[in-house]
This record gives sequence, C-alpha cells and structure tokens, in this order.
Amino acid sequence: MKILVLNGSPHKDGATSDMLSAFERGAAEAGHTVTVVPVAHKRINGCMACEYCHEKEPGVCAQKDDMQELYPEFLSADMIVFASPIYYFTLSAQLQAVIHRTYAFGIPKNVKKVALVLSSGSKYVYGAAITQYFQSIVEYWGVENAGIFTANGRQNKSEKKRKELYQFGKSL
Ligand SMILES: Cc1cc2nc3c(=O)[nH]c(=O)nc-3n(C[C@H](O)[C@H](O)[C@H](O)COP(=O)(O)O)c2cc1C
Repeated sequence: MKILVLNGSPHKDGATSDMLSAFERGAAEAGHTVTVVPVAHKRINGCMACEYCHEKEPGVCAQKDDMQELYPEFLSADMIVFASPIYYFTLSAQLQAVIHRTYAFGIPKNVKKVALVLSSGSKYVYGAAITQYFQSIVEYWGVENAGIFTANGRQNKSEKKRKELYQFGKSL
C-alpha cells in the first residue's frame, strides 16, 4: 500500500513524530511505502472559499502554495494517517488547513482506509478530533477506520506507545 501520513505537529522531535516513527518502521517492514509530510512546516493556507475548484477548473485549487505538492499524494494514496497534537480539544490548525483544502477534489479516489494518531497533555480531550474530523471523514469518504491511537501525559514517547504504533504499522 501507498500510505500518506500527515503530521500536524510543529515539533520535529515531538510526541506525535515519535509515534509516527514507530508506525513508519512497522509499515515499512510490512512492505508498504510510507510518506510522512510535516504539514506544519509547509506553507499551506486556509481555504479561501473562492469556488475556483468547482466553478472554473474542477478539482484544481487556485492557491499555488505547498498544498499543490500534496494533491497528487492524496489522489494516489491507498491509506491516509492523520496525526496531530491536540490543540484546544481538536487537531492543530495546520492539519485542519490541509483537510479544508481537500475541498478542491472532494473524495480521494484510491483511499481505502484511514487512521488517526493523537498526542495530548491530558486525558479525555479527544472528542472533537475523533468525531468532528476523523469519524466524519470516515463516513464522508466511505473508507475503513483502521484505528485511533492516542498518547497523553507520560504515555508520550513511551516504549509502550512505540510498540503499539509499530505493531499497527506491521499489521497492515
Ligand atoms: C496551542 C496549544 C494548545 C494545546 N491544547 C491542549 C488541549 O486542549 N488539551 C491537552 O491535553 N493538551 C493540549 N496541548 C498540549 C499538547 O497537545 C501536547 O503537549 C502534545 O503532546 C504535543 O505534541 P507534539 O510534541 O507532537 O507537538 C496544547 C498545546 C498547545 C501548544
């Protein structure tokens, strides 16, 4: 499978990246091609709602920023992993901007499954990220929910979480 991982954390060595490294190792060992995109280090603006993608050039976004390099990745991926630190009970603004910009093409045609990886300081703060974003995308795209993985407080950067994410990648 071609797996696209969208990392919404600005911390290159943070807790989200730590889980993703373990996932990437497992998935690569299972023979998958994994591309991790640090979206918080890209120049990706919010959607302008100009409707160019619907009214002028179907599927094409008028904004020529770093999202342009992500569009082909979305359209060729078999699986997408959304990963983010929790910011005020939901995904980071950087990852939300990427999700909003998929408005240009609608549903990525090859994606069959999606997963969610979240890191937070506290417990019980995942509701909006899981329901508002993840579950809604699972239903809208009509894809399989491959799993939701969370780490809070001391679970961040723990061997237990690394093992969990490695095994998830390996099991795909
Ligand atoms: C702007 C901002 C908002 C945050 N909001 C929350 C929150 O609502 N709940 C929570 O438990 N942690 C919150 N945190 C803490 C991060 O989710 C936590 O430190 C996480 O482990 C960071 O992951 P990273 O190292 O991958 O960036 C917030 C951090 C920042 C910078």
